[in-house]
Amino acid sequence: MHNYHGLLLAHNDHIANTTGHRPSFFIRTYGCQMNSRDSEKLAALLTQLGYQEAQSLETSDLALFNTCCVRESAENRIFGHLSRLRHTKETQKPDMLIAVGGCMSQQAEISEKIAAAHPYINVVFGTANRHRLPQFLWQAIQSGKQVIDISEDENLPELDSVPVTTRDYAHKAGVNIMYGCDNYCSYCIVPYVRGRERSRPAADILREIEALAADGVKEIMLLGQNVNSYGKRLANDSLDSGVILDFPTLLRHVNQVPGLERIRFMTSHPKDFSNDLVAAVRDLDKVCKSVHLPLQSGSTRVLEDMNRQYTQDDYLALAARLQQAGIGLSTDIIVGYPGETEDDFIATLEVARKVRFLGAFTFIYSKRSGTPAAKRTDLVPRKVSSERFERLTATIYPILLEINQAKVGSTVHTMVEETSGTAIKGRTDDNTLVHFDAEQGAYKLGQIVPVRITSAKSFYVCGEIV
Ligand code: 5AD
Ligand code: SF4
Repeated sequence: MHNYHGLLLAHNDHIANTTGHRPSFFIRTYGCQMNSRDSEKLAALLTQLGYQEAQSLETSDLALFNTCCVRESAENRIFGHLSRLRHTKETQKPDMLIAVGGCMSQQAEISEKIAAAHPYINVVFGTANRHRLPQFLWQAIQSGKQVIDISEDENLPELDSVPVTTRDYAHKAGVNIMYGCDNYCSYCIVPYVRGRERSRPAADILREIEALAADGVKEIMLLGQNVNSYGKRLANDSLDSGVILDFPTLLRHVNQVPGLERIRFMTSHPKDFSNDLVAAVRDLDKVCKSVHLPLQSGSTRVLEDMNRQYTQDDYLALAARLQQAGIGLSTDIIVGYPGETEDDFIATLEVARKVRFLGAFTFIYSKRSGTPAAKRTDLVPRKVSSERFERLTATIYPILLEINQAKVGSTVHTMVEETSGTAIKGRTDDNTLVHFDAEQGAYKLGQIVPVRITSAKSFYVCGEIV
């Protein structure tokens, strides 16, 4: 890594009325787990340079936004938050540096918009040059001008070399196993802002997981836009016997890391979910028996338009194979994709009723410029898509309640995830949220305890320690 010791001094000089304190940073993260992990790494990078973490965005010397652009609503929210922070900066903290990075800023039209209309933002960087943030901050301080750089480095260090000293949770962590996406689903902007699919060498991944486990991490989430295609084009990567690693093989290795209790992964693409992977999830003791498997639409015609490369039958067959292996499913669904008819939508409802998902993220289609779907003119009127959205959740939520009610009376192994006084929140292997009470301090984060379920709601269950 470059040496940016001068940055801290320069930043300190930049702060008015400095009391000699180290400059502080606060990161606001939007979007997926991949962004959360990137933020942890950016925090580690800044900490390594001597920055300290601030209590809030408003009181920080460096306010950092790690952004998302998967739907327009995310971008609107981010610009709303930025304009509020602008007010704080202008009225109370004129020396605050504001930096905006990640998926939203990676779009050229957004960085142009910021250059033209958001002069209070000091630094704009992208997804493929995050590790150069210190250099951009340095330039912004030295020049007093806005620095915009969304160039993509040829040789991507991806921040993986930064040892992550700070984590959002003591007991669980995400680990990137790949970056980018080559699937080009027609509605999705990710391939344009996150670049081509690249797998990380297995030895690096295992080293990171071993270090996390040694540091007390009990649950690992393997992260990638399409983890099932892990290892593609990763030539010469062999841990043993010269075999090129694929995702099931990687899972088998991760399962052997001492100290880990649970392994999860996301996201899976149905087209790449092999029988070998079903068997690996079923047989490996630490791999959780629930899988996030985005459906997007239940209509074969819409799936084809979306370039998803599977049919309704393919999805249902895979879901049945997983469920027969004792593996539950959660999903993502989009309603109102251009050209979606009432019959297409009914096909989606049909799949939701047949599969009985354990959880579902539901979205109204959002036009993302630069994607193939953005060219379509046969848009579903907002009123129709909102109404379909309501009908979809009205189908899914009662099923969630039934699934949770069926658990009442049973005892589930629950990992303690959050404690506040005597109230504890935990999660089961199949990702059910469990509320229960215990004496204050009785359990540590990451500890697995038996809880008997006493009542159920759609989104959580309540229970008591056995
Ligand atoms: N509009 C609505 N939802 C989208 N998603 C991705 N792109 C769009 C879009 N343009 C959803 C998909 C994906 C999840 C992360 O976000 O369901 O799986
Ligand atoms: Fe987007 Fe499709 Fe890639 Fe997921 S698989 S990130 S939806 S292009």
